[in-house]
Amino acid sequence: MPHQNTIAVILAAGKGTRMHSDKPKVLQTVLGETMLGLVADAARSVAASVLTVVGHGQDMVAKAHPELVEGFVLQEKQLGTGHALQVAWDRVRASGASHCLIINGDTPLVTAEVVEDLLETAQTGADLAFITAVLPYAGTFGRVLRGAAGEVTGIVEAKDYDPAQHGPDTGEVNTGLFCLGVAAMENFLFSLTDANRAGELYITDLVGLAAEAGLRVHALRREDAGEFLGVNSPLELASAEERLRSDIVDRLLSSGCLLHHPASVVVGPNAVVEPGAELTGPCRILGRSKVARGAKVCAFCQLTDAIVEAGAEVREFSHLESARLEAGAAAGPYARLRPGAVLMENARVGNFVEMKKAVLGPGAKAGHLSYLGDATVGAGANIGAGTITCNYDGTNKHQTEIGAGAFIGSNTALVAPVRVGENALVGAGSVITKDVPDSALAIARGRQSNLPGHGKKP
Ligand code: UD1
Ligand code: CA
Repeated sequence: MPHQNTIAVILAAGKGTRMHSDKPKVLQTVLGETMLGLVADAARSVAASVLTVVGHGQDMVAKAHPELVEGFVLQEKQLGTGHALQVAWDRVRASGASHCLIINGDTPLVTAEVVEDLLETAQTGADLAFITAVLPYAGTFGRVLRGAAGEVTGIVEAKDYDPAQHGPDTGEVNTGLFCLGVAAMENFLFSLTDANRAGELYITDLVGLAAEAGLRVHALRREDAGEFLGVNSPLELASAEERLRSDIVDRLLSSGCLLHHPASVVVGPNAVVEPGAELTGPCRILGRSKVARGAKVCAFCQLTDAIVEAGAEVREFSHLESARLEAGAAAGPYARLRPGAVLMENARVGNFVEMKKAVLGPGAKAGHLSYLGDATVGAGANIGAGTITCNYDGTNKHQTEIGAGAFIGSNTALVAPVRVGENALVGAGSVITKDVPDSALAIARGRQSNLPGHGKKP
């Protein structure tokens, strides 16, 4: 449950120079989800409201995350993480929240549980709480400084860290996850200076300022916190992605999913694979996809926001996006199901069949080489090889309706809008431009003539 007294601020205005990409860094994806989306999920699960500080590529960020736009705060110049929080502060104050959670937008593996832990620490006796990790090699992360009694005395950024001045490197670093008491920390926030090598306002300086003033500063050192550290380079992105992938796969295996070649199975964090579902790698199950118990997804398939119900099967090399297979339905190998494609119970599509906004009724079949767009196909109908719904006239899209039990001969063009009645038959090679009544036979093609003796000489 989100805490009513807490507001979250996601810092996402930076460019991410080390990614060498035109996209703002927070839009880089991990298992098909943007880093920002994952961070926002964690933030929303604990905080009543979420602000996002944007700057670099803000239009792209808005387009990718319209649900966050209401909480956008613009940081025109990226003058540092402390400056980013200053820019958001009016809205933090206006929210009336007593606590402010701060998360860097480049920490895709942050979880609701760890953030919840941090909040609890902050709300039960700290003015500033933050999470640290101990790394074998602290690299470019901010170093946590402690005094003789182990008390936290500050954070020094890697660029400014000097063992002669700050003491030996303990490898304890700042993860960038903070929770501040709003009233207690306000003065410190606005007394940050840019007296450091980067010439930026560092949020991390709040720790030293608060400690020096005798405020309650609490560092939560977590053994496993390395995973919450920021992603700054393609290498770090790949390792975060692989870590999340293998965690999800392990969880699915222990819950009772059947995974063949699990090392090449990719399941997104928002996808649901039920115990008893069977996946064969390599495959990717992304977005809000769902694979039900007893359903099967074979190798080399990609599903995005697709639903595969019990007993349904997605065969090799198929690609599904916002499509649904109901119980016992089957698609592929080599099926392409685009948004709005639905295979009702026991319906089947075979190789090189593309469907878009089209429904195949129970038990209906389209075995080979077809395009079905803006169409409904009744129960038990059979769509012959090479059938095409001509749904587009260059300006508008039109519907094709095929009745239950109809049989469409091979290589038929159905020029929409058009209706083929129930139990109607359409001869192979027809171009159907007019409705076909129920139970009628329609043939619309050139007649065959046989000219004796006009063939090859023997
Ligand atoms: C930051 C911390 C460092 C910590 C590390 C953990 C600071 C000064 N340093 O370093 O102690 O170990 O994270 O991953 O905070 N951003 C803005 N506006 C700005 C600058 C940055 O919104 O003006 C955003 C970025 O988009 C990013 C986040 O803040 O999402 C962190 O910035 P980044 O430059 O990645 O900081 P690090 O150098 O990684
Ligand atoms: Ca970072």
